[in-house]
Amino acid sequence: QKGGYKHFMLKEIFEQPLVVTNCLTGRLSANHARVTLPELEELSTPERLHIIACGTSFHAGLWAMYIMESWAKIPTSVEIASEYRYRDTILGKGDQVLVISQSGETADTLACLRKVKQQGAKVIGLCNVVGSSIARESDTVIYTQAGPEISVASTKAMCSQLVVLTLMALFWGRRKHVLTEAEETETLDALRRIPEQLEAALPAMREQANALARQYSGARSFLYLGRGPCYPLALEGALKLKEISYIHAEGYAAGEMKHGPIALIDPDFPTFALIMCDDLFPKVQSNLQEVQARNGKIIALTQDDAVLTLDSVWKIPRSRGPLDVFFALPALQLFAYEVADYLGKDVDQPRNLAKSVTVE
Ligand code: F6R
Repeated sequence: QKGGYKHFMLKEIFEQPLVVTNCLTGRLSANHARVTLPELEELSTPERLHIIACGTSFHAGLWAMYIMESWAKIPTSVEIASEYRYRDTILGKGDQVLVISQSGETADTLACLRKVKQQGAKVIGLCNVVGSSIARESDTVIYTQAGPEISVASTKAMCSQLVVLTLMALFWGRRKHVLTEAEETETLDALRRIPEQLEAALPAMREQANALARQYSGARSFLYLGRGPCYPLALEGALKLKEISYIHAEGYAAGEMKHGPIALIDPDFPTFALIMCDDLFPKVQSNLQEVQARNGKIIALTQDDAVLTLDSVWKIPRSRGPLDVFFALPALQLFAYEVADYLGKDVDQPRNLAKSVTVE
């Protein structure tokens, strides 16, 4: 069942190239130049998009905010379901709600869906489990087609959510004429290349994760830093580490460092930084210099062409802009996996956690 892998989590991390392929199946035009999402065809384009989710699905939603704003020019807010359900939230006339849930059964997310439907909003459900409650109750459901996810820690499901969210942003961007045909085609080309690139990169990524795990698993606490689309990834990296290795980890927007957490930095408190070769590179670099100046150890996840002098530099392949996420995410997952495995934790069944959170 585990296909020769030691744990389901590892198997599911390694399935991600196939997940990207499956997610794209039937969603591109014959010449691969356009997105086809029949699920969205009937709906108008949202004037504002409210994304609601929990945990890892929330992080996928937070990442999507950046592309919804930059590619589709849709004002987007991203909400934690357990907070949203008890707030006096306001929905405008042309607003739409996107609920993201792998299981489709998360109680808080389902409650939000029911709440906004009562307020008359159109709800798009992004689910993995076919026929789940959220899938059934949404006005339209888009399936992530990731296949069953057995490991409690979500990995490939997030990857599949990111693919569909990319397609949605491209679809709306084109429909609004704010994205050119060339931009859509080039992004799709880059997306179609991911499975092969990732397949080739994963074995070396695992080795790197294993080496870093041996070096850093004695730490009692970690700080994860990222900016822009890497900020949600910092949150996700920290979540993965804490849930399966039980090491405390905190994800932070790198620019917020100086507003408090910098006080924690010392040689025993490592920082895992995401520093992609984008416009924010110099900004993150200067944030990391602040950590270095306080003798904090740094693992930097970056790209082949980056020049950095830090304790541990981990290079991953480059894609097109925010699509770098398809390499950064598995790196974070593999690091958490290798630390947990090295420490002898029950990777697939972490204590106190359930795969589907059907109670409040
Ligand atoms: C983390 C994890 C959880 C889920 C969360 C939402 O690895 O698995 O944080 O992401 O419970 O679950 P879904 O997506 O099923 O609504």
